[in-house]
Amino acid sequence: MSEQVSIQWFPGHMAKTRRLIKESLPLVDCVAEIIDARIPKSSRNPELDALCSSKPRIVLLNKIDLADPAITERWVEYIRKSGAMPLAVDCKSGRGLNKFLPLVKELLKDKIEQNARRGMSGKKIRVMVAGIPNCGKSTFINRMAGSKKLKAEDRPGVTRGTQWIDLGSGIEMMDTPGMLWPKFEDPTVGENLAFCGSVKDEVIDIELLARRLLETIAKTYPDFLRARYKLNGELPEEGAELLALVGRKRGMLISGGEVDTERASAVVLDEFRSGKIGRISLEKPDMTESGQ
Ligand code: G4P
Repeated sequence: MSEQVSIQWFPGHMAKTRRLIKESLPLVDCVAEIIDARIPKSSRNPELDALCSSKPRIVLLNKIDLADPAITERWVEYIRKSGAMPLAVDCKSGRGLNKFLPLVKELLKDKIEQNARRGMSGKKIRVMVAGIPNCGKSTFINRMAGSKKLKAEDRPGVTRGTQWIDLGSGIEMMDTPGMLWPKFEDPTVGENLAFCGSVKDEVIDIELLARRLLETIAKTYPDFLRARYKLNGELPEEGAELLALVGRKRGMLISGGEVDTERASAVVLDEFRSGKIGRISLEKPDMTESGQ
């Protein structure tokens, strides 16, 4: 394996976000965890299971428009077997979101029945959205909220400033998502997040990142690379060679006929992130060593 992209994380806000989630949890009946369908393992928060153990969970596999549909299906099965309720969605187009409220009601069926027995059938079921940066939390909340009005929390003693969006069907959603952090100590996780654009490009070496990404895609989806960049035959294994090929094919040259690797890197990363190379999943369920 060639050198790996190293990413500096600054977990200064971890303690604060952990505290905010802990404070918010008693206010909600369930948690909707959003992860990136291209990297379902790398985009999960390492502590969420422990933090939310008492709350039922929906796991939203988001950005399915960018992920390999066959692998997303396998993740859906995998998550279901692990005991959470999976839902594959594309928050950008809204695909799959019509299933969200029915799923919440199914998940909270016992609670809803219990409320009805106690004469509190009007009591709303409350949901909190949580996820690592860039997984699509705001996009999800905006999509679900549409033009619905926010309702300020007026009960005394609860976290100040909490607002609730009435989604209909007896369900309310907290307007601010729980911000989580990824498993930043694992370099593979950092690299996957960087590939997907969840780490600011200013803090990473984008040429190294593009070379690593090309190596990965050449192993798993070589036909996508051949088709996108009009490459024939066996692809080289080395990222640097792949990047040079792409740069040449696209005519990205600098004086002296050398490939402008910086420009080629930006193009490769952009085309991967926007799905132009193809619908690519970087993690499969059976790649996970601990079953999580
Ligand atoms: P966050 O609150 O969790 O940090 O994430 P946010 O909603 O801001 O989404 C991060 C990026 O992911 C946004 O792109 C958003 O449009 C994109 N996104 C969210 N859901 C989906 C999805 O299902 N499919 C695709 N393809 N993209 C999704 P951006 O580049 O930051 O902004 P923009 O391109 O939308 O302007």
